[in-house]
Amino acid sequence: MASAILSDSNTTYNYEIVRRFTLMTLFWGIVGMGMGVFLAAQLVWPQLNFGLSWTTFGRLRPVHTNLVIFAFGGGALFATSFYVVQRTSRVRLISERLANFVFWGWQAIIVALVVSYPLGYTTSKEYAEMEWPIALAVTVIWVAYAYLFFGTIARRTVKHIYVGNWFYGAFIVVTGMVHVINHISIPVSLMKSYSSYSGATDAMIQWWYGHSVVGFILSVGFLGMMYYFVPKQAERPIYSYRLSIIHFWAIITLYIWAGPHHLHYTALPDWAQSLGMAMSMILLAPSWGGMINGMMTLSGAWHKLRTDPILRFLVVSLAFYGMSTFEGPMMAIKTVNALSHYTDWTIGHVHAGALGWVAMISIGTLYHMIPKLYGREQMHSIGLINVHFWLATIGTVLYIASMWVNGITQGLMWRAINDDGTLTYSFVEALQASHPGYIVRLIGGATFASGMLLMAYNTWRTVRAGERVVSAPIAVMA
Ligand code: HEM
Ligand code: HEM
Repeated sequence: MASAILSDSNTTYNYEIVRRFTLMTLFWGIVGMGMGVFLAAQLVWPQLNFGLSWTTFGRLRPVHTNLVIFAFGGGALFATSFYVVQRTSRVRLISERLANFVFWGWQAIIVALVVSYPLGYTTSKEYAEMEWPIALAVTVIWVAYAYLFFGTIARRTVKHIYVGNWFYGAFIVVTGMVHVINHISIPVSLMKSYSSYSGATDAMIQWWYGHSVVGFILSVGFLGMMYYFVPKQAERPIYSYRLSIIHFWAIITLYIWAGPHHLHYTALPDWAQSLGMAMSMILLAPSWGGMINGMMTLSGAWHKLRTDPILRFLVVSLAFYGMSTFEGPMMAIKTVNALSHYTDWTIGHVHAGALGWVAMISIGTLYHMIPKLYGREQMHSIGLINVHFWLATIGTVLYIASMWVNGITQGLMWRAINDDGTLTYSFVEALQASHPGYIVRLIGGATFASGMLLMAYNTWRTVRAGERVVSAPIAVMA
């Protein structure tokens, strides 16, 4: 294992595709989070809807979620999976053309999403809002991606398949599967279709998909990233390779069953809700196994955290992963969900995972990769990475703390009942009580997003300097 992650031969890797996806991840991250900040501002000042249909909260919200999940998170996964699969398989990606096709195809899809949602084209299924022609295009690109990834593994020049690739592989297979099944629909025009499923079945398929997006894109994919970049940055082998294998099989076996926790107290059969709840609680174990495996990789190297802000990004992301995967199973308990569902608590949980885990591990990883991709020793400014780290951490904490307070306040106010059985508070009173929290969330989100601008500047300076010093073709740098 150690040889698989610590040394590389002189093979010429395809870094061009990694570089492109890396820069676009940064770009879409800024746009997607900027959109998040705008939405947060709309919830403070509703007049920012401007009275236009295409700038309303309802239409822009999926622009945010799709940009941050598929363009920013997806971009980071494309970039790192191509980087990791080549380096650990000690072979170049099997096709330049296909790699370019995946890159341009994915960018075109993102643009199509950003244009079609504000215009009102939507399936209305969360995280699967894209209408059928775009969903079809995603399927084609995804098949090409799978072919590239698994084809490269098949041509590897080392016997072993590094565990990070198992995680990336599961993310690719399961995302493709749930995307296709959830999108089976009947088109009635170029941009309108109706789901082939109906009623509770439709809801079940949608949340089987929805939770798999959380599980296999936002968790398993990024765990693949963790298994390569944490040992690399810490310059230590992974704490327990055996645990990583158990972690892999346990997490992919369990995640797929947890979807019904999104549908507690609905028309879904009671047994399915209880199954979702039980599976979610069991999920705590492999999630924490993975988190501990990542954290303990720093055994004997904790002192590095004092001087290395990139490692700090990676370790703090694991801490947030631990936190959100503790919170999730708790929220899956039906009686807890009776309080949390529909409230800002869910939004807080989402962003503990999204900002604390997904964004922070991606940021740390990009800081690790960018100098290597541009032939530099390190990023232009380590000081700026440190400032970014604090902006991201403080921003995340402000975001999630304000949403916890709002969520619990809303849940308690909504269920408060007078002696005569009438509601104690109106909905508007709960909304008024939430307003201070929305202001704090806006400040936290803007703080987080400003760190991304620093990152863009730091990257630009690194890239510019890189072009000056590198004389050999960059693709031969390993
Ligand atoms: C600067 C950073 C960000 C800000 C200010 C922000 C803000 C927001 C806002 C205002 C909403 C709507 C909440 C509501 O409907 O009440 C939202 C939803 C959401 N955001 Fe973000 N966001 C940010 C970053 C991210 C990132 C990086 C991700 C994912 C990697 C993400 C994923 C989501 C998801 C999945 C939802 C939907 C949650 C749900 O339906 O329960 N966000 N965000
Ligand atoms: C063991 C792990 C986890 C479990 C059991 C879990 C469980 C839950 C539960 C019970 C909900 C609320 C469902 C509802 O009331 O509608 C939820 C929502 C959500 N969680 Fe988690 N969670 C876990 C980890 C994560 C992680 C690591 C992320 C990463 C970002 C994440 C992202 C989300 C999102 C995006 C939603 C909102 C879905 C929506 O309604 O739009 N979760 N999760």
